[in-house]
Amino acid sequence: MSSTLICPHCTAELVKTEQRTFQCESNHSFDLSKEGYLNLLPVNKKKSKEPGDNELMIAARREFLEEGNYDPLVASIKDLLTQELRFEKKDFLALDAGCGEGYYSEHALKKASAKAIVLGTDISKYAVKNAAKKYKNNLYFVSSIYNMPVASDSMDVILSVFSPIKPTEFKRILNHKGFLIVVSPAENHMKQLAELIYNSFRPHEHKIVEEMPDSFDHYLSKRTTFDIVIKSSATLQALHKMTPYYYNTSKEGQEKVTNCSTMKVTCDFHISVFKKASAQ
Ligand SMILES: C[S@@+](CC[C@H](N)C(=O)[O-])C[C@H]1O[C@@H](n2cnc3c(N)ncnc32)[C@H](O)[C@@H]1O
Ligand SMILES: [Zn+2]
Repeated sequence: MSSTLICPHCTAELVKTEQRTFQCESNHSFDLSKEGYLNLLPVNKKKSKEPGDNELMIAARREFLEEGNYDPLVASIKDLLTQELRFEKKDFLALDAGCGEGYYSEHALKKASAKAIVLGTDISKYAVKNAAKKYKNNLYFVSSIYNMPVASDSMDVILSVFSPIKPTEFKRILNHKGFLIVVSPAENHMKQLAELIYNSFRPHEHKIVEEMPDSFDHYLSKRTTFDIVIKSSATLQALHKMTPYYYNTSKEGQEKVTNCSTMKVTCDFHISVFKKASAQ
């Protein structure tokens, strides 16, 4: 791991010492927390006191994902890695950028190959803490995807699931053979939930491929669509809390969610894969 993480203050390599500490040649040092994660977000780079998803959203995400509700998406990402991109049984270094509570880093990246080395980063301390506590084989650190403490040309795979993307930073850390995988909502994602809350639904627009700068070549795209049947009010509320709708729901909309205990919801995703443009 020594040549992968770099110091957020001086960009020199971070090396793990015998203690639970990572250190650079200028003696900037970072201790692993008791849960096993590193905080590599300098205080002066924090835009708010507690950036990223809060505890409530992270807990909701974990509850919902652990029920297996998005497992067809996880299987699609894993199949992409093992079959189309041929990483099965291979050594590869992967970063889950905007990893949340870690579900995809473990179930899609780590499970794609026993030899995978998986890193995960998120700007939310709660996200990273929960990921590190549960998935001990992977290394999680707090940082912003806009300025990652990751060495240039180091990654074979970057995965971004429903998280902010920063193409220049992704291009810097991806190696020349590497793949960037971006998962984003497709047209009908969460249609029925929006209809319940707002009495209407505006289909999602998909612009990831169009908006990706020329420094990336589009390699392939897949669409994964499935329905889930929510069978309890608790699950529906967990789903609601992990969507951006939660903070744009009126009191009346919230009551409708609370009073609804069963619903079929369409889950609709684009998985877009890019490589660094060969001429770059
Ligand atoms: C919709 S969640 C997706 C989390 C995870 N990939 C999943 O699908 O379960 C978006 C995540 O991006 C994180 N995030 C937001 N801004 C970020 C930034 N600048 N750098 C890193 N992570 C960020 C949030 O804290 C949150 O965990
Ligand atoms: Zn340093």
